[in-house]
Amino acid sequence: MTLSTIWDRLDAQAGRVSARAIATLFHDRNRAAAFSVRFPGPSAAAAHGEEMLFDFSKTNIDEDTLELLIELAIAAGVQARRDAMFAGRRINETEGRAVLHTALRNPEGKVALDGQDVMEGVRETLLRMRGFAREVRGGGICGQGGPITDVVNIGIGGSDLGPAMACLALAPFHDGPRCHFISNVDGAHAADTLKDLDPETTLVIVASKTFTTIETMTNAETVRGWMAARVSDPGAQFAALSSALDRTADFGIAPERVFGFEDWVGGRYSMWGPIGLSLMIAIGPERFDDFLAGGAVMDAHFRSAPLRSNLPVLLALVGLWHAQVLGHATRAVLPYDQRLARLPAYLQQLEMESNGKSVTMSGQAVSRPTGPVVWGEPGTNGQHAFYQLIHQGTQVVPCEFLVAARGHEPELAHHHRLLLANVLAQSKALMEGRGLEAARAIAEKAGFVGDELDRQARHRVFPGNRPSTTLIYPQLTPRMLGQIVALYEHRVFTEGVILGINSFDQWGVELGKELAKSLEPLLAGGARPEALDGSTAQLLDFVAAAG
Ligand code: F6P
Repeated sequence: MTLSTIWDRLDAQAGRVSARAIATLFHDRNRAAAFSVRFPGPSAAAAHGEEMLFDFSKTNIDEDTLELLIELAIAAGVQARRDAMFAGRRINETEGRAVLHTALRNPEGKVALDGQDVMEGVRETLLRMRGFAREVRGGGICGQGGPITDVVNIGIGGSDLGPAMACLALAPFHDGPRCHFISNVDGAHAADTLKDLDPETTLVIVASKTFTTIETMTNAETVRGWMAARVSDPGAQFAALSSALDRTADFGIAPERVFGFEDWVGGRYSMWGPIGLSLMIAIGPERFDDFLAGGAVMDAHFRSAPLRSNLPVLLALVGLWHAQVLGHATRAVLPYDQRLARLPAYLQQLEMESNGKSVTMSGQAVSRPTGPVVWGEPGTNGQHAFYQLIHQGTQVVPCEFLVAARGHEPELAHHHRLLLANVLAQSKALMEGRGLEAARAIAEKAGFVGDELDRQARHRVFPGNRPSTTLIYPQLTPRMLGQIVALYEHRVFTEGVILGINSFDQWGVELGKELAKSLEPLLAGGARPEALDGSTAQLLDFVAAAG
């Protein structure tokens, strides 16, 4: 079957299954097990407590649908493209680059690019990072005022979101200096972050793949100025993470403080290498190795598991079913894990920068909607904010719940029980809803009668039949986080291949950057071009008037 025939069949399938309530699918007592995957399977998992369970049974996907979705993946050539990625082929075709971030988490592996081994460089940089992190943590590398107490990572996008998300996620494992992140060019970010720090015991890491990003370079200059006011040799308290070694040298950072990576590591895929240095300093090289190992086991699974039990592939297929077939324009990521508070933001870049495209690899307009809008907040906070719309609004929002079976605070186990009860309740409520009869009974109990009873009851109806998936894991450890991040990376990859787009470029961020460059002089009183639109002119006037 051709791809377009399979899409057509999926559309027809959508028409058939949409009338059917998800809850009724559970008349099949085997449904939960049949529409779930355990990774890596109970026996293999025992050693590391690493088993995760992805349950997609609370969706309207049935066996026929799943079969078609798997045929879609096969027809789109997911397996061949995946193998090409791992083999170092230049699958980022618009930039002529290979996509080898997976090599960073498998340092003992073998990967060649155009016949050249890339692993020696990966191992060498990792060794240097470990040595540096150990010295910073152990006091071998000090600030002018003594041992390093605080690390400030200056970066944005992929040079910020990964380590910032992971540092928060792995807070129970921190035993190194405190980590802080400055990303926004808004001076408030630098000012508020530096306010409580001592320049004499702070290490600054400038993280930028290109070392040209205006936000990062502006913040780096500002922080260097802040340090220079108190420290005689600020350069000695700076390090850089970049693939532009000439520019790091121009900035004055000594080569032994620079950790480089190659152009085959995309920004949003870069936390596994030097961009992860702040995380490594916070949790130590051994736990950083566990994080890498988690990513590597997910890679091995993605490469070898049959599609029907392949976790990233299934996550992708469920996503495609909801966004591209059923037409749900957004996807909520709802971690019931406060320490994953930055995961939605991290996934926004990973998914929306990768798959927010309108043309196929060959430059033709796409025939289906591409990546959905990804958004979310941790539970249970979101329940008291936007869940109203999720339950009773007019748009269906497929929800992706994440939760750990165990927290890190045994003395607060009752909190965790409540957290778990809530996540289970939400997916059940979304699926089952509440009909008019039950709503009437509630309104009646509240004392309403007659027409008012009818009116009140209607407001208490939940349509239900709203899809969700749940990813549950024993506990959020470095290894588990590695598995989760790699799982989402490969999910995005698989979706991109099926949609026929290039998930590894990001031309859509360029226009705004160029315009910002041309508008900045106007804010400083420069002459306005004649063609300036009325709205922008009005906004500039407002700024000028506000002084
Ligand atoms: O503007 C988008 C982007 O290029 C992202 O893809 C990237 O992660 C981010 O900016 C930061 O880039 P750099 O690491 O080169 O500073």
